Amino acid sequence: MKKILFVASEAVPFIKTGGLADVVGSLPKCFDQEFFDVRVMIPKYLCIKEELRNQMTYVDHFYMDYLGQSRYVGILQYVHEGITFYFIDNEGYYNGSKPYGDWYNDLEKFCFFSRAALSALPVIGFQPDVVHCHDWQTALIPVLLKDRFHEGEFFQSIKSVITIHNLKFQGVWDVKTIQKFTCLPDYYFTPDKLEAYKDGNLLKGGIVYADAITTVSDTYAEEIKMPFYGEGLDGLMRARAGSLRGIVNGIDYEEFDPETDQYIEKNYNLKNFRKEKVKNKRALQQELGLSQDDKKFMIGIVSRLTDQKGLDLIQCVIDELCQDDIQLVVLGTGEERYENLFRHYAWKYQDKVSANIYYSEAMSHKVYAACDAFLMPSLFEPCGLSQLMALRYGTVPIVRETGGLKDTVEPYNEFENRGTGFSFANYNAHEMLGIIRYAKIVYYDKKREWNKIIDRAMTKDYSWKTSAMKYQELYDWLIGC
Ligand code: ADP
Ligand code: GLC
Repeated sequence: MKKILFVASEAVPFIKTGGLADVVGSLPKCFDQEFFDVRVMIPKYLCIKEELRNQMTYVDHFYMDYLGQSRYVGILQYVHEGITFYFIDNEGYYNGSKPYGDWYNDLEKFCFFSRAALSALPVIGFQPDVVHCHDWQTALIPVLLKDRFHEGEFFQSIKSVITIHNLKFQGVWDVKTIQKFTCLPDYYFTPDKLEAYKDGNLLKGGIVYADAITTVSDTYAEEIKMPFYGEGLDGLMRARAGSLRGIVNGIDYEEFDPETDQYIEKNYNLKNFRKEKVKNKRALQQELGLSQDDKKFMIGIVSRLTDQKGLDLIQCVIDELCQDDIQLVVLGTGEERYENLFRHYAWKYQDKVSANIYYSEAMSHKVYAACDAFLMPSLFEPCGLSQLMALRYGTVPIVRETGGLKDTVEPYNEFENRGTGFSFANYNAHEMLGIIRYAKIVYYDKKREWNKIIDRAMTKDYSWKTSAMKYQELYDWLIGC
């Protein structure tokens, strides 16, 4: 049995702020359980739903010297859908109302977590062959495995993988602070290791020291070797190109299934979507107070409201878009200026625009099921899961051709009868508007063609099947090295 440990800052169903949680929570159960024992470790945040926290069982605890104090490290566990999740407990660090707060404190709490996660392994008697780290929060682990932890026999043969879900966030502060939080010697703080542009950089450390690096789509793996997407680390990505590969994300096909989804008004499938899907639109129009019209072209957005998601393009043309025969349903939270943008247009065009500025799993499913099209014009997108959910629900994605959006949405080609969505290349608001209008024409005037796009979208397989095999191959290769 090959033993793999995922270490991350979030995982469904426990805690989620974005796609990272979907991946860490859903991928482990998709490995071949005959050969792989995959477990997951995340912090025990106080903001994990009480109902779930109450079901965790105490495993053990120990004290760890960190920043001059002996600190409590509790270990809890919860078996969810056959996967063992471990939780690292320290109320001083993980008592916030959200998993992340300000950068300075987050740096300390995730350095503590990375160190505690490794220290906990001998205590629970789980010696993984591979530790699979995700993003900057756990990027210290590959460094620790090559440093002090390497001295202990227990850790010597453990290999590490780091997956970059978003290169924009790197865990950066001045060298002195990062050195303090990581407890690493001076040796590590040079520009070929944890130093970048005179600062300390945790993600850089992970990328330098991990045995393998992955990111969440092929296109993003190429893009980050270039300055525009490289976030200052494109040189390093080029240098590590031999150890870097893209493995596209999947989604949980049980959780996101229009045929069995408990959140939506009317279940449907590939065979009956022509008749049944619209009932979800009807129900959502009623729930959100939009004008009741089965035929209306309804566009959905479910997103963190940040610059990454291309919202300034929408801002630029939203008034023009609202002159069209459309409805726009937004579900998201994030930067205030975007929250207020959508609130304003929902007020201005009450029967056309609905702004739902909150987080709700249930509402997200309703939007994926009810809308005709799903808009995701991201500036950059390592993978993107929302467009995969939209495809699964036969809601036609309209995306910008970047990262995983480019790899997962095939643009409609009316001459060749191909395509699962609509896409545009340049980061340009009117190019986006042009493609939305093109989609709208196909929807209103060529309904049979539109339905064929839905057909192809729903037929695509973006479950974890193929990608889980690629991770297995990677683990096999690492273990064999
Ligand atoms: P990112 O991780 O960059 O935010 P992804 O597309 O990979 O983007 O994943 C976003 C995930 O978060 C999807 O599962 C999406 O449905 C969910 N999501 C985003 N905003 C909300 C919201 N306001 N309510 C419910 N789910 C949301
Ligand atoms: C990040 C990226 C997103 C990706 C997700 C899961 O949040 O922004 O594109 O889908 O991680 O890998």
